[in-house]
Amino acid sequence: MSIRALTAGPPTRHLLHLRRTVPERASHQLPGYSVGMKLLNLDHVAIAVHDLDQAIEDHRRRYGVTPMYREVVEEQGVEEAMLAVGGSFVQLLGALRPDSPVGRFLQRRGEGLHHIAYAVVDIEAALAHLKAEGALLVDREPREGGRGTRIAFVHPRGGNQTLVELVEYPL
Ligand code: CO
Repeated sequence: MSIRALTAGPPTRHLLHLRRTVPERASHQLPGYSVGMKLLNLDHVAIAVHDLDQAIEDHRRRYGVTPMYREVVEEQGVEEAMLAVGGSFVQLLGALRPDSPVGRFLQRRGEGLHHIAYAVVDIEAALAHLKAEGALLVDREPREGGRGTRIAFVHPRGGNQTLVELVEYPL
């Protein structure tokens, strides 16, 4: 399989392909990987924005990218637009309410980088690994994300002040 064939097509298909072809045992043995934590991809980088429509339009004009998905995630109080860039996304995040986590972030810090998200093979195993490592978890159990994914956030404290999201795609 050539690199070109692996990276062609939308990121989701790329990921699903990777997910099917990562040999379970072999990937555990890769240097830098421990059992339970296997990062497949940098899934997305999220940017909190005041005006989602304006941010989408700015990205279209400046970088020539348009949303592949746009979705309201009521439970998180956000509307998100996913712009495909290679095998990853830029996620533009607008707040549905000022008292939501992203709403509070925008009030406190203004627009800007909000979190990075890693795609993982097995989110429960990844969370168990992080617990064992003493990481401070925002979500001790996975919850529902956009596009049928399961997600969990890892607190910035003790993690280089960077909010990290784990994403597991449905099979
Ligand atoms: Co995200």
